[in-house]
Amino acid sequence: MRTLVMLVLCLSAPGSAILAQGKFPPDSFTNLKVLPKNIDQRTLISTMRGFALALGVRCTYCHVGPEGAPLDSLNFASDDKRTKRTARVMLDMVSHINEEHLADVPDRPVPHVVVRCATCHRGLARPRLLDDELALMLADSGLAALVQRYRALRERYYGSGAYDFGEIVLNDLARVEQRAGRTDNAIGLLSLNAEFNPRSAFIPAALGEAYLQKGDTARAIASYRAALAKDSTQGLAHTRINELTGRHLRRPSSPLLSVAGTYATAVTLVADSCTGTMIRDNPTLVEQQPGDTIVRLTHAAIAASGSVHNDGRFQMAPAVMRISGVSYHVDINGRFEERGFAATVHVAAGDLGQPTRCGYTVRWIGNKRGAPNVIPEAQR
Ligand code: HEC
Ligand code: HEC
Repeated sequence: MRTLVMLVLCLSAPGSAILAQGKFPPDSFTNLKVLPKNIDQRTLISTMRGFALALGVRCTYCHVGPEGAPLDSLNFASDDKRTKRTARVMLDMVSHINEEHLADVPDRPVPHVVVRCATCHRGLARPRLLDDELALMLADSGLAALVQRYRALRERYYGSGAYDFGEIVLNDLARVEQRAGRTDNAIGLLSLNAEFNPRSAFIPAALGEAYLQKGDTARAIASYRAALAKDSTQGLAHTRINELTGRHLRRPSSPLLSVAGTYATAVTLVADSCTGTMIRDNPTLVEQQPGDTIVRLTHAAIAASGSVHNDGRFQMAPAVMRISGVSYHVDINGRFEERGFAATVHVAAGDLGQPTRCGYTVRWIGNKRGAPNVIPEAQR
């Protein structure tokens, strides 16, 4: 394409009909407006074959003459066909892309990637991507027409690279339809996709979502089960089956983690390299909403927040206290049980990045007054 010259203005009278030349290949070319006028016969013919191959068409797609007739009966010089005139625009476009736009690519890696007709056309005269083709079809003619079209395209083009028949195109279109509330379209698209991708666990899981949206719980569950049969780790299918069958069987829901209350506290200094550390047995207030994993402890007017798990283990976010110009880094973790908690507090004095001045460790026991804690996964 580098040898192409820019579009030269047409000087001959428009529509000048030139009669069939009667010889192929012709001895001379009389109507070249983009290709070099002195192009040799072999290069021109191989360029033309390249066009035909890239677009998946025959010479008569652009040249005037009966389909299937011998080449010497075609009128190659005529510009009567819109497609030939379009091909000139394309030739011009391709040389623009290669010589101007791509030449501006910063630090362009070598060897260069050169744009050719086939780069876009991939064997199609109008190189529309499959997702666009299907979306148009669906909007214009509905699901049944789309299914028919998809099958026909797949039959004709599978393996040619003209269209992407991978799993994703139909899944994406199904998602768009489902979001728009067109659940039946989503189900139809996914069912079609499942036919061609029998090993996919994603498709039955997505079908489950569509049936769920439609209110068809039985089919939803069957689809999630089908997904798990193909891939036992399919997360969505697991979650949904648990939700749906749990509701279905009215299984009592597991008790909610609950540890809030006031705890009588006993603290013991188990290690201390600081001097004059004083600790006090103040009561501890624990704040937590039933079922929640966020917990807040207040002890001697010092509050810490952290997370608590269903087995009672808790961990406070590392905190820094500043007292008399010294930073104290505090780490608290422990475990709630039915009647209280046991925790270890590590305190290190010193500024971050500086050597630790000193540290101490406190054993912190809380005995709960009032209702016992609820620990759903208590370790006994
Ligand atoms: C996609 C459209 C397209 C297809 C398909 C195509 N051509 Fe062309 N052909 C052109 C265009 C455009 C020109 C004119 C180029 C120019 O103006 O520089 C041309 C010019 C020619 C010419 C020169 C005509 C002249 O006297 O000026 C010949 C010969 C020719 N084509 C042969 C063929 C043959 C043989 C085939 C099939 C193998 C073919 N073409 C397929 C678009 C096409
Ligand atoms: C950058 C992408 C791109 C490249 C490269 C490209 N084309 Fe196209 N071509 C298109 C698109 C897109 C269309 C469809 C435009 C439309 O109709 O909306 C098209 C349409 C055409 C058509 C009209 C088809 C029809 O039936 O309406 C012809 C003929 C054509 N191209 C020939 C060529 C030839 C020959 C080359 C190489 C010289 C080429 N194209 C290179 C993108 C490209």
